[in-house]
Amino acid sequence: MKSAPVFEQGDHRWWTLYDQNEHRVIDSNVYIMESGGNAIILDPGGFEIFPYVFTAVTEVVPPSSIRAAFVSHQDPDIASSLPLWNACNDKIRWHVPKLWEGFIRHYGALDAEFSGIPDEGGEVIIGGKKLLFIPAHYLHASANFHVYDPEAKVYFSGDVGAALLSPGHSAFVDRRDPKAFDEHIAHAKYFHQRWMPSNEAKRDWCQRVSQLDIEYLCPQHGAIYEGENVQRFLNWFDGLTVGSAITRYL
Ligand SMILES: [Fe+2]
Ligand SMILES: [Fe+2]
Repeated sequence: MKSAPVFEQGDHRWWTLYDQNEHRVIDSNVYIMESGGNAIILDPGGFEIFPYVFTAVTEVVPPSSIRAAFVSHQDPDIASSLPLWNACNDKIRWHVPKLWEGFIRHYGALDAEFSGIPDEGGEVIIGGKKLLFIPAHYLHASANFHVYDPEAKVYFSGDVGAALLSPGHSAFVDRRDPKAFDEHIAHAKYFHQRWMPSNEAKRDWCQRVSQLDIEYLCPQHGAIYEGENVQRFLNWFDGLTVGSAITRYL
């Protein structure tokens, strides 16, 4: 697994950990935000990729500096590493959708410190920086949140923006090559059509997120959209019909 910086201003930093070593499980990105020596890990990943994620984390922050973890929804590629992280650092506070708490507990570590995020969202302060938990329900899980850092203009979008890319992929969609977005989004189309269930939820999310100032839109699979590619993605997603299994199989 590789690490790449996303944002840096003084001691306020974001990293992506990407291109995992194990290809029998879905390729997943993990993100770290650090401020003033305090870190939060976002969607820390599955049980099987934990050794690779942990090694990559040690390249960017000391694991002991991780104060909090954010879990966008209940899926195994998001949170099944929870008991392993908790065994390494039981001071981590887990911010998880309140609706999914009892489900996520099934991964283990019953004593882990949980903070349930209510449906309306919330916030957390890490090293003096405020991160907002933005509701993204039904995209794709019924309780689902994203994270916005207004100062860094980083928006962690969970499974929204995901693309199924081959091993060796880059961390960012190339913003200098106008063809790169179109080539990339072909790998995102099926994922959104099939895993995203609700056109109504998608429309509502696109309207809300278009009003935010975003420089980096960071998905949990695939590559980061930066600069003008953020708006390109929002336009593309707004125009896509999702929930494809309904029309295809009924
Ligand atoms: Fe998911
Ligand atoms: Fe995912």
